[in-house]
Amino acid sequence: MLALTVENLKKRYKTGTEALKGVSLTIPAGDFFGLLGPNGAGKTTIIGIVTGLVNKTEGLVSVFGHDIDKEPERAKARIGLVGQEVNFNPFEKPFDIVVNQGGYYGIPRSIAIPRAKKLLHDLGIGEKMMQGSMTLSGGMKRRLMIARALIHQPRFLILDEPTAGVDVELRRGMWDYLRSLTADGLTILLTTHYLEEAEQLCKNIAIINKGEIVAKGTMAEILAMHESAESEKSDYRGGRLEEVFIKLTQQK
Ligand SMILES: Nc1ncnc2c1ncn2[C@@H]1O[C@H](COP(=O)(O)OP(=O)(O)O)[C@@H](O)[C@H]1O
Ligand SMILES: [Mg+2]
Repeated sequence: MLALTVENLKKRYKTGTEALKGVSLTIPAGDFFGLLGPNGAGKTTIIGIVTGLVNKTEGLVSVFGHDIDKEPERAKARIGLVGQEVNFNPFEKPFDIVVNQGGYYGIPRSIAIPRAKKLLHDLGIGEKMMQGSMTLSGGMKRRLMIARALIHQPRFLILDEPTAGVDVELRRGMWDYLRSLTADGLTILLTTHYLEEAEQLCKNIAIINKGEIVAKGTMAEILAMHESAESEKSDYRGGRLEEVFIKLTQQK
């Protein structure tokens, strides 16, 4: 079973920018998948198209077998999105933000309320859930967005740079939580700038550069693409993904 199928996806924005030049990738159900690439590579554009926020120019996309053109509502119902930008109303309380999101998916308040409380508690913002969200730290804001994305119990969670601006300690806490979700069968698509993070978390990855996939496969396959003399000489074991990434994208 595939959580996501993307075939020959192309996107040309009105400005003329060719953001995607024929991207194909698949994500098996239950995977922890990393989509990696430098700024401007097209990651957020792919996510926008998959989640129905951006219109594609060409290509096919299906989510758990539901074509996004033919069955957009079914496809959307299976996805939880944590977008790149913090985009909730800071004057609302975390509790209300999460419960109200349930309303968009037709979840009755009697079900949404206990679910929201559990999610906020599990994500470490239980004690802050009745305060204005502007009082939350950067890391807590991200975790609130994860709680909101999970209220309708999607099978596929998409996170666009969720740890950007989150300090190291909190980042690790978030990794543990995300790992526990995949252990329960959730499929995760993550984009990140932190290659060490991807190396630790992701089973399968794709590297995108200038709108084209330049490598895809299991983490082990991608790492094996770069068995450099330097890394064999030294005892240094970290940063192997970073070496492959720099080689393929010609930048940090
Ligand atoms: N709304 C838009 N209008 C025009 N160009 C855009 C828009 N959004 C993104 N782009 C361009 O498309 C390319 C890919 O952007 P994006 O998907 O945001 O990359 P990434 O998320 O990998 O940083 C970039 O050149 C970016 O400037
Ligand atoms: Mg982006």
